[in-house]
Amino acid sequence: MPIEKVAVVGCGLMGSGIAQVAAQSGCQVTVREVSQPLLDKGLQSIEKNLQRLVDKGTLAAAERDQVRARLRGTTNLEDLKDSDLVIEAIIEQLPAKRELWTALDKICPKPTIFASNTSSLSITEMAMFTQRPDRFLGLHFFNPVPVMKLVEVIRTIATDPKVDEAAVALAARFGKTPVRTTDRTGFIVNRLLVPYLLDAVRALEEGVGSIEDIDNSMKLGCGHPMGPLTLLDFVGHDTTYYIANIMFDEFKDRRFAPPPLLKRMVAMGWNGRKAGRGFYDYSDPAKPKPLQFT
Ligand code: CAA
Repeated sequence: MPIEKVAVVGCGLMGSGIAQVAAQSGCQVTVREVSQPLLDKGLQSIEKNLQRLVDKGTLAAAERDQVRARLRGTTNLEDLKDSDLVIEAIIEQLPAKRELWTALDKICPKPTIFASNTSSLSITEMAMFTQRPDRFLGLHFFNPVPVMKLVEVIRTIATDPKVDEAAVALAARFGKTPVRTTDRTGFIVNRLLVPYLLDAVRALEEGVGSIEDIDNSMKLGCGHPMGPLTLLDFVGHDTTYYIANIMFDEFKDRRFAPPPLLKRMVAMGWNGRKAGRGFYDYSDPAKPKPLQFT
């Protein structure tokens, strides 16, 4: 089941990263966005990342040119019809995913494998939007995609083991370490990460420590690259809140219940780094300043 032609739907933070690593691995990549300005923004971010690698000397300029040549952008879904694999990385809303998968199921030939990069929605439910649940699975990448080494390969009870095998091989070709998991909300990483992040907010609410002290504790005491509140700002409070609610709905377990402070920060739009404000103020992105919450 060779995979050479990869389509990526969505060229935001995750989609652009996936398209980049796929093109760097030697695959022919077509990345699709809904509008030309969004596509241009995503392609520019790939270009910036590749240039950074060239400047650091980890990628030769000639290789960068080959990566560019393997990558094409489109706003037309029909252009994905020749793909061996389609990876979807669009907005985390089931109706939008339903519309996309229903359309792609008509456009792409039967052998094309479909994969979703969802972090929280049901792979099984999405597979049932198509006539090919046996060729449908999850491929969950981590932010920033070019740096993070893990890919969760998520099978449903209907996924053909050969499709699972092909996805595992592809993730390895992308330079990632694949882990196999089943379609349970949160898979492995978010199952463990989300309660940890929510607990950090609870600790802050209860006055266990300041923002900086909570972050430094986990950085310096446990060797994490970022403290949990910095990580929440990095992932986005809205994203974490959304995932936590879906997980709470699935497991009905308090560990996944978003704490009131997080809910209120989302209501304020204080969603972290991308909003310029979360647990830290990012007016100077190079020097985030912890904020006070009373
Ligand atoms: N794109 C590409 N490369 C990037 C990057 C980006 N957005 N951000 C950083 N890098 C690269 C840098 O160029 C640098 O490369 P070199 O070592 O080759 O020079 C390297 O990453 C380290 O970057 P920095 O020195 O600038 O900063 P850092 O050491 O603090 O690392 C980090 C930044 C990689 C983001 C690190 O802090 C980290 O690993 N943080 C944790 C991230 C994490 O947990 N991600 C998972 C989030 S959960 C998720 O994604 C799933 C979900 O479903 C919500």
